[in-house]
Amino acid sequence: MEILVTGGAGYIGSHTCLELIAQGHQVIIADNLSNSHRLSVERIQSISQKEIVFYEVNLCYEKAIEDIFQAHAIDAVIHFAGFKAVGESVEKPLMYYQNNLESTLVLCKTMERHKVHRLVFSSSATVYGMNSKSPIAEHASLYATNPYGRTKLFIEKILRDWSKTIPESSVALLRYFNPVGAHSSGLIGEDPQGIPNNLMPYITQVAAGRREILSIFGNDYDTIDGTGVRDYIHVMDLALGHVKALEYTLNSKVCDAFNLGTGKGTSVLELVKAFELVTGQKVPYQISKRRSGDVATCFANPTKAKNKLSWEATRDVVQMCRDSWNWQRKHPMGYLSS
Ligand code: UFG
Repeated sequence: MEILVTGGAGYIGSHTCLELIAQGHQVIIADNLSNSHRLSVERIQSISQKEIVFYEVNLCYEKAIEDIFQAHAIDAVIHFAGFKAVGESVEKPLMYYQNNLESTLVLCKTMERHKVHRLVFSSSATVYGMNSKSPIAEHASLYATNPYGRTKLFIEKILRDWSKTIPESSVALLRYFNPVGAHSSGLIGEDPQGIPNNLMPYITQVAAGRREILSIFGNDYDTIDGTGVRDYIHVMDLALGHVKALEYTLNSKVCDAFNLGTGKGTSVLELVKAFELVTGQKVPYQISKRRSGDVATCFANPTKAKNKLSWEATRDVVQMCRDSWNWQRKHPMGYLSS
């Protein structure tokens, strides 16, 4: 199939493109490179030995998207593109609402015009807000605590409304837990701009000597060792989840949500220790105060994805640490190191 991947040059998008190609699909990437690198597209090509069609476009420009749909017989879309930094979204809510919502609306309108009815949307476990008790299943109540989270929640609702109007439509809303790791080649990986917000890239940057010390945000939570517990999932498992969701949309005529997580919780300290053990690198850390908005524990109930998508995460924390480090070690400054 010909699959349009919006945001395909980004972290999860690039790994998903590789998995799509490995399963025999043809990939068309549309990405404005606002938070990603052209080099990641070249790397996808060199790993897969396949030519990729790449459009450097802003999805909000309807004409540019229309041109892509005119040039290709697109069968389905995987929609990753969007701003994703929680803190920035609090400071610039309008920018987040405009970019994330408008791009999705333009995309859906264009899909409708071209009778493309299959969509996989990159959502997030952030839609469960702070109140749900882990393990969290898809029927848990939905609530967002910041503008970024609200864009995910709004888009989920928009897609549900939209899909009801098109009987042949099929939409999978994929709620990711905490993606980490990298392709085993170490040629593509996560390359956050500026100071990383997330734990794993912070750990790898400390290990690489790019940052001095990791701050652990609180050690007085009601968890195994007082530090926050999350459901870390290897990005290649996540990538396969998208391919499975795509296959699912072939045979379903609904809009449905799926958790993509392992179902296992790991604390911050456990992850730091595992990383040190696997890589032999020391990660100096200090305990600092809790980060506002954090919950003690958040992990998935992934049963629905297992039953309906025939998908299950198989890579463990050891592999996550090894592959994250392999990428960072080869690219201490991210893609700019190349
Ligand atoms: N943490 C630290 N130090 C850091 C960074 C994080 O101690 O420098 C801790 C956090 O307090 C938390 C854990 O590490 O306990 C994980 O934090 P992340 O920032 O890596 O991930 P979150 O679970 O906070 O958020 C992630 C994504 C969100 C998404 C959410 C869904 O960043 O976009 O998972 O569950 F919404």
